Amino acid sequence: MADLDQAREWLTRADSVAVMTGAGISAESGIPTFRGSGGLWKDYKPEDLATPEAFARDPRLVWEWYNWRRETIAKAAPNAAHRALVELEIRKPRFTLITQNVDGLHDRAGSGKILKLHGDIWRMRCTACGANWPDRRVPLPKLPPHCACGGLTRPGVVWFGEPLPDGMMKEAEHAASAAQVFLVIGTSAVVHPAAGLIPYAKQSGARVIEINTEPTAYSAMVDCALLGPAGELLPKLL
Ligand code: OAD
Repeated sequence: MADLDQAREWLTRADSVAVMTGAGISAESGIPTFRGSGGLWKDYKPEDLATPEAFARDPRLVWEWYNWRRETIAKAAPNAAHRALVELEIRKPRFTLITQNVDGLHDRAGSGKILKLHGDIWRMRCTACGANWPDRRVPLPKLPPHCACGGLTRPGVVWFGEPLPDGMMKEAEHAASAAQVFLVIGTSAVVHPAAGLIPYAKQSGARVIEINTEPTAYSAMVDCALLGPAGELLPKLL
């Protein structure tokens, strides 16, 4: 297994880089992850809060949870790992940032195009007319919120059991297959289809570098698994 110096050399030489991030990249900004120590899914059940069925059953409860998360995220700022990815994007002729995060910290750090596989907590979508729009109000004045058309509004995120935004997975797969280096940062890599991008990139010939505070199911198959916080390791990799 390669070490940080070897990984840095691969990254320096690569013209084509793709990155996939998960909740762990925002942990040092103070945003709880879903799994692992302090993870949200220890205290909350996804089937009560993050499925279309949960929303149909109790939209107010789901919105209370999203409102609380919006409050937590609004207090957070991008960290050194988000900033390092902005720098990497500037350096590389071909660069794609794929994220499972809905927190918007990559946008706030200054990343350009971002493939947000699981949507964006700062966007709303009307369940009646399909309109979608940004909304950064914290807290939201009335729960559940409604659209101008009178329809019930939902968070602009992808819930369990729902398809990813149209065409986005294809674009992510294209980037993963074209990448010379595929960086995987702060994801437990258990949620599909996102997790499938890791073996896909590897089979397509990319050097895969993982950064995580704990080993994952993919650590043994990647080319380099760096153990530690992203905010410390990623700037060193650059
Ligand atoms: P998880 O919460 O499943 O995993 C977070 C990962 O980050 C874990 O493997 C941690 O070990 C790691 N980690 C924690 N702190 C870190 C740090 N400072 N530096 C590096 N790594 C760190 O989050 P995701 O893999 O993003 O989906 O979860 C995937 C999806 O499951 C989410 O997008 C969400 C969730 O349910 C939906 O809401 C649809």
